[in-house]
Amino acid sequence: MIVLGIETSCDETGIALYDSGRGLLADALYSQISMHNDYGGVVPELASRDHVRRVIPLILKVLRQSGIEKSDIGAVAFTKGPGLVGALMVGACTGRALAWAWGVPAIGVHHMEGHLLAPMLEENPPAFPFLALLVSGGHTQLVQVDGIGHYALLGESLDDAAGEAFDKAAAMLGLNYPGGPAISKLAVQGVTGRFRFPRPMTDRPGLDFSFSGLKTFTLNTVARCQQEGCFNDQDKADIARAFEEAVVDTLTLKCRRALRQTNMKQLVIAGGVSANQPLRQALEAMVTKEQATLYYARPALCTDNGAMIAFAGCQRLLAGQRETLAVAPEPRWPMETLEPVNRS
Ligand code: KG4
Ligand code: ZN
Repeated sequence: MIVLGIETSCDETGIALYDSGRGLLADALYSQISMHNDYGGVVPELASRDHVRRVIPLILKVLRQSGIEKSDIGAVAFTKGPGLVGALMVGACTGRALAWAWGVPAIGVHHMEGHLLAPMLEENPPAFPFLALLVSGGHTQLVQVDGIGHYALLGESLDDAAGEAFDKAAAMLGLNYPGGPAISKLAVQGVTGRFRFPRPMTDRPGLDFSFSGLKTFTLNTVARCQQEGCFNDQDKADIARAFEEAVVDTLTLKCRRALRQTNMKQLVIAGGVSANQPLRQALEAMVTKEQATLYYARPALCTDNGAMIAFAGCQRLLAGQRETLAVAPEPRWPMETLEPVNRS
């Protein structure tokens, strides 16, 4: 079955065609980052309007890229939530209407389930059950994944998500959105050990996270440097390095704890922050010691994209799930409430 995937939950229009037999056929993305940069963050109304402009041209682009005819498409998957309601509405209306017009089924996909399953698009995919660290701009969660829709939340951030912390720390250092890649790039020039940032909630048991204290620590460090007249490019790089190391250490420690607690031997990382190189390296080293294996997707499939929506939608469609004709985005939608797919 060929599935058209439509992702419009935030500031990226992602469109893809996935074939359950042949894999990913085409993938196209339009990022609105430069438009939102003038405002220092995503402006929801501008995001929705831009999705309206991009969605059809991108669908035509993936059709051209793949050489697939509209009539070859067997189903449409769109992001139903969580996300910005207006942005979600564009993808949901487009996806639902196209499926109706083409006489094929539609499925509304959970954005984080899309992220979670994206590493399965790669060669040597993980097999259920596995442990997953979901790290994006809105979520930081450790999840035991026993199958599609069989999700047990083991821990999550009590305040800011890891990606959000990267974005806020980046803004304090005068870097553009998205902050993750910007901090990471700057941190390469930084000196380890000049600043020592806390590793929040690592000194107590449990698998929850908290990143808002790290944000405050960054703010105080920046203020002190500015007062002392030491806020040049090298100082900023040193702060970026210390911040990134603190996030990476914290995530790695919690993943190790979760692996031990669940006795799992496979760790999947997904979501925008899973593109972070130092995080991948630290987790690789950790899983090797734990005799476990790490799985992640190529960077373009870690951040928002249409391929993950087409893939996750396809799995649910193959299990017989369908969307009704109603268009009902779910801006807030806990992943644990998703309908389980029966394991064969
Ligand atoms: O998954 P995603 O594309 O969108 C959401 O669902 O939120 O994640 C976006 C987040 C942003 O906070 C961005 O700063 C972060 O992922 N990010 C990174 C990297 N690339 C993206 N964080 C750290 N290192 C990166 N290389
Ligand atoms: Zn995302």
